[in-house]
Amino acid sequence: MNAIHKKFPEGFLWGGATAANQMEGGFHEGNKGLNIADVLPGGKERLNVLKKPGFNFEIDNEKYSYPNHEGIDFYHRYKEDIALFAEMGFKVYRMSIAWTRIFPNGNELEANEEGLAFYDRIFDELHKYGIEPVVTISHYEMPLNLVKNYGGWRSREVVTFFERYVHAIFNRYKDKVKYWMTFNEINSALHFPIMSMGFSVEKEEDKYQSIFQGFHHQFVASSIAVKACHEIIPGAKIGCMILVAPVYSYDCNPENVMYSLQEEQIFNFFCGDIHVRGEYPAYSRRFFKEHNITLDIHEGDLELIKENTVDYIGFSYYMSLTQKKDKSGLETTPGNLFEGVKNPFLKASDWGWEIDPTGLRIILNKLYDRYQLPLFVVENGLGAYDKVEEDGSINDDYRIDYLRSHIEAMCEAIEDGVDLMGYTSWGCIDLVSASTGEFSKRYGFIYVDKHDDGSGTLERKKKKSFYWYKDVIFSNGEGL
Ligand code: BG6
Repeated sequence: MNAIHKKFPEGFLWGGATAANQMEGGFHEGNKGLNIADVLPGGKERLNVLKKPGFNFEIDNEKYSYPNHEGIDFYHRYKEDIALFAEMGFKVYRMSIAWTRIFPNGNELEANEEGLAFYDRIFDELHKYGIEPVVTISHYEMPLNLVKNYGGWRSREVVTFFERYVHAIFNRYKDKVKYWMTFNEINSALHFPIMSMGFSVEKEEDKYQSIFQGFHHQFVASSIAVKACHEIIPGAKIGCMILVAPVYSYDCNPENVMYSLQEEQIFNFFCGDIHVRGEYPAYSRRFFKEHNITLDIHEGDLELIKENTVDYIGFSYYMSLTQKKDKSGLETTPGNLFEGVKNPFLKASDWGWEIDPTGLRIILNKLYDRYQLPLFVVENGLGAYDKVEEDGSINDDYRIDYLRSHIEAMCEAIEDGVDLMGYTSWGCIDLVSASTGEFSKRYGFIYVDKHDDGSGTLERKKKKSFYWYKDVIFSNGEGL
């Protein structure tokens, strides 16, 4: 049999990804209002602090540090950073708009000109180098006013505020942005609603009712965004963004296989099924019944959702998940906002996330079989400790190995027949970790001199992976 020459298609969208709240800083500048990320404390205890009942969404400088306030100061250093992205040859740069730069409290009638002008400057700078922005409309940065006074996405009123926000940005940036995405990792709310939905679940019995009602509001809001995007920016593409982790059954016991299938349906596929197919999937009926979920659906919602489905599927992939119905006695493994049982075949990152490039090929195949829409890997990468050597070099071979194996897996999936439009590796420049608020959990090709204790000059340095990724892009994936 002839060896297949594996290649990436012409025009493949290579690049990197970030989110406003994890890197911009300038949290009070340009009339920006406070958002949910501004009250997230730094440090490994971040998620536990947020999970404590009665978390009050206030800044407490006596008790905690708030690394997102300064981020890596992209707000002032974007020209230097974008020049480095251009040097690597980025075709696209995935970023998010901070909703509170445009509507500081979320519910104003008029957009904030200073915020709009800031992103004009970013998009112009990107276009100067021929880099297309891929913009996430909402990436874990809901206006704090909507969190505190409306209960986040639990409230139907938020849909109206979001509609105003998307109209403002589509009208303003219609000549500058061709690729959009609605809600970052929308399905993450299933495990952890604070960051994406802006509320915590106080009583376990209300958990699913509030989360699935929040999802419904987001599906309506997403369809409003898709409709507006297509009307205001003909030719633009707008996608959803889901967190995926293929779910493996711990063993071939059919009970565990069924359990893993259900986990996969509700976690990996539920949101995508609605975004792509425009209707609630059959399996959700039983899930809603068994979890006492009754959705408040307004007249016209289901038609709107059906008529305004997404153009592509953006997703993040860091790891797979192994599941067993009864986990007692088994070692568990931490993950990207979820937990499974340890997979004996996989090694893990410094933060315990299991590294599984074949899992990426598996999920690419599964998603494409299911949806037949273009896929876009908009997050993938290795959070690791980096060491600056005496001569200033940073030899992050472990990161190169991780990325190489995942890019190879994408290549295999393309060969399998998957329509993959691009790849933006996460945290192309070091930034604040979402789950731990640490700087030391680094993902970048570009090192930023900033540390967990708040010290650091913010100087940027190119890591070994910077030069490697540049070769990958310039050879369109041949120079792996
Ligand atoms: C994704 C998020 O879940 O994973 C990003 O969309 C996040 O915001 C990334 O930073 C990596 O997670 P972490 O917790 O290592 O920063």
